[in-house]
Amino acid sequence: MPHTLHSLKTIPASLLPRIAEIHLGDAGLLSKLGYPFVLRYFEGAIKDDRAFGFYAQDDGTGEIMGFSLASPEPSALTSKLTEDKGWFIQNIIKVIFTRPAAFLQMAISSITIRGQMYEPNTIECVYFTVDPTFRGRGLGRSLQKALMDEGRKQGYKKIYASVETWNIASLKATQANGFRIIKTFREGIYHRHRLESEL
Ligand SMILES: CC(C)(COP(=O)(O)OP(=O)(O)OC[C@H]1O[C@@H](n2cnc3c(N)ncnc32)[C@H](O)[C@@H]1OP(=O)(O)O)[C@@H](O)C(=O)NCCC(=O)NCCS
Repeated sequence: MPHTLHSLKTIPASLLPRIAEIHLGDAGLLSKLGYPFVLRYFEGAIKDDRAFGFYAQDDGTGEIMGFSLASPEPSALTSKLTEDKGWFIQNIIKVIFTRPAAFLQMAISSITIRGQMYEPNTIECVYFTVDPTFRGRGLGRSLQKALMDEGRKQGYKKIYASVETWNIASLKATQANGFRIIKTFREGIYHRHRLESEL
């Protein structure tokens, strides 16, 4: 499976829908809000000055296999979803009627996130997702490691991640990258481990 990791900042706009599609394999809230929110989120994330990430591309076929994203301030990425008020109101009304549980979870998560302090010189592994075809072959681990290497290069000292307690694949990859569990907490329907690693 020869592949190359590229910076998400340089991804051609035509490939962003594929990133959004792969992201829908993540069980988190963003996926539950639906594809329009996911695509808009990544459109904002690649333009954000401080966020960075990588995508893995098959050297032979050019297929996108997975991606990772980190930021020193993840809430700034989420806030971008509400920048265009007209778009947000129109789409969130659809969510209220078609996915009320996702709307409720969004309200709970926004309160939880508000209470989360972001320390200076730290980043969050916001997302890392691999297309199901390519899972279990070390790609998730190397996409997350790329975030750690880049974070270190940029002078950050620590990286955090939150992983649902049932998510064995993510926990294994994250712990193999040197993260350790520092606490376990509830966020609405989610039961998560909080993990950290020095960079
Ligand atoms: C988490 C994820 C990115 C891992 O990607 P990956 O390429 O499969 O990861 P890796 O192959 O690097 O490592 C996964 C490890 O979990 C193991 N694993 C995978 N699925 C497993 C399962 N269902 N049960 C137990 N172990 C599992 C793999 O064997 C591997 O362990 P090893 O290194 O000891 O062999 C991928 O599963 C995914 O995209 N999941 C959906 C999105 C997601 O949950 N993202 C993380 C959010 S915190």
